[in-house]
Formats: sequence, C-alpha cells, structure tokens
Amino acid sequence: MADTTPVTRDSLLRMKAEGEKIAVVTSYDASFTALLEAAGVDVLLVGDSLGMVVQGHDSTLPVTLEQMIYHSACVARASTRALRVVDLPFMTYASTEQALDSAARMLREGGAHMVKLEGGALLCATVEALTQRGIPVCGHLGLTPQSVHQFGGYRLQGRDEAAARQLLDDAIALEQAGASLLVLECVPAALAKQISESLGVPVIGIGAGIDCDGQVLVLYDLLGITPGKRPRFSHNFLESGRDIPAALRAYVEAVRTGRFPGPEHTLA
Ligand code: KIV
Repeated sequence: MADTTPVTRDSLLRMKAEGEKIAVVTSYDASFTALLEAAGVDVLLVGDSLGMVVQGHDSTLPVTLEQMIYHSACVARASTRALRVVDLPFMTYASTEQALDSAARMLREGGAHMVKLEGGALLCATVEALTQRGIPVCGHLGLTPQSVHQFGGYRLQGRDEAAARQLLDDAIALEQAGASLLVLECVPAALAKQISESLGVPVIGIGAGIDCDGQVLVLYDLLGITPGKRPRFSHNFLESGRDIPAALRAYVEAVRTGRFPGPEHTLA
C-alpha cells in the first residue's frame, strides 16, 4: 500500500541518513500536483521557474510574490503527502524584514511548508531570523536563476578552485544558519558530491550529478513540453512512458534507484 505519512524535514533527514534518494519535481497547479502525489514524489517545489514555463518570460525575474502565493495555494489544495517548498521571488527577500513578511504570507496564504531563497553567506542573517521564527528554509546555490544577469547567462558554476571553495563555504554557512535543505543547480558533479557529503541536511541536485541526496526537475522539462531548447541535464520521461502518470512514476523510480541522472545528463 502507498505510504500516506506526510513528508517532513525529519523524514528527509532520515532518507539522507539511510541513503534513500529524494524525488522532487516542480508543480504549479492542482491537477499536476494530484498526479505528482499519486506518483510518490517526496517534495513539491513551487518554483519561480513558472515565470518561464507557465508565463513565457525569458527569466524568473518578473514573477511577483502575489503570483507565487496564488500558485502555491493551487498546489496546496491538491497536495496530500509531499513537503511543499515555495520560492520567494526576485527582490522579495532583499532585507531580513522583507523576507519575514514575504515568507509569512507564503506560509499563511500560500500554504507553503518551507521557503526557498537563492544565495549564499549574505543570506545567513535572514535564514537565522526565519528559522528562529519557525519558518523552515531551503537554500539554493550554484546557478541561481534570479542572478542570471550577474552570471551573464545560464551556465555551469563552481568551475575553478576558488569558485568551488566559495560554494562549499556558502553551503556550510547556510546549514549553520539553520537551512533544512539545499538545492544545488548546475555545478560539477564532483563538487556536488563533496558538498552533499559535507552537509548534514539533504542536498537536492539539478544538473549536479548523481551523488546528491535527491534530484529535482522542472515538470515541463520532465514531460518534454518546455518550448525551445531544454537543458542538457533534463530528461523527457514521457518519451518512453505510456502517459503522464507513467512518466511521473518512471522519474520517481529512476531517482530512487539511482538511474537518473545518467552520465549523459552530467555537466562536468
Ligand atoms: O524555480 C525552480 O523551478 C527552481 C528549480 C529549477 C530548482 O528553482
């Protein structure tokens, strides 16, 4: 029988400790959420990637707090078991005060269980303030899409020794500040392995190789429906699946058994 026990921070910690891989997918609405729950996804990420795949923008920057609350609430209505992590969008956590207000609304009105913030050590005071007030935080390092203009494009991060060291230090600082989870995007696989092994909290990779504690994909990439060029680290699970529910189950199974990502999805 399917496990109906709600996923919590503690269950994710136990999964990491027992080497059980964590399956995460982005979700933006009620219908897909119901299918993702049925497929056994552990964490639903209401990502600001919705700005690109739902709204058609060329970055996540135009997404507003109101829009994220709206989509988070749509997901919450259909969610039964998974932990719901929701992005705070661009410039809605520029100060600790603003982050507290934005995150409180995300939990109160959007039904989020945890908020995700992009950035490193600079955010530690904010992470501490949120967690001390009972708001769990997921960090996000590596290719942080809200900084796309700073990076000059969507490209691999942490390539040289100094940048890799900075990412490791940032990851440790976020954990020490109280973060419960970390998303690591587009970094070399060896660095992602080192960071995952250095932290007590689970590290969820996207374009970060097989050795993270779990994997996340953007739902529309997983189903092969994102228009235009899709990232090399993603995989279309609908190609070999019978239908959408089968494709979602195939993804969860591939993450759990360590078959995804394969070498062809690994960037360095
Ligand atoms: O917004 C999002 O979907 C994300 C994932 C790509 C990790 O942050």
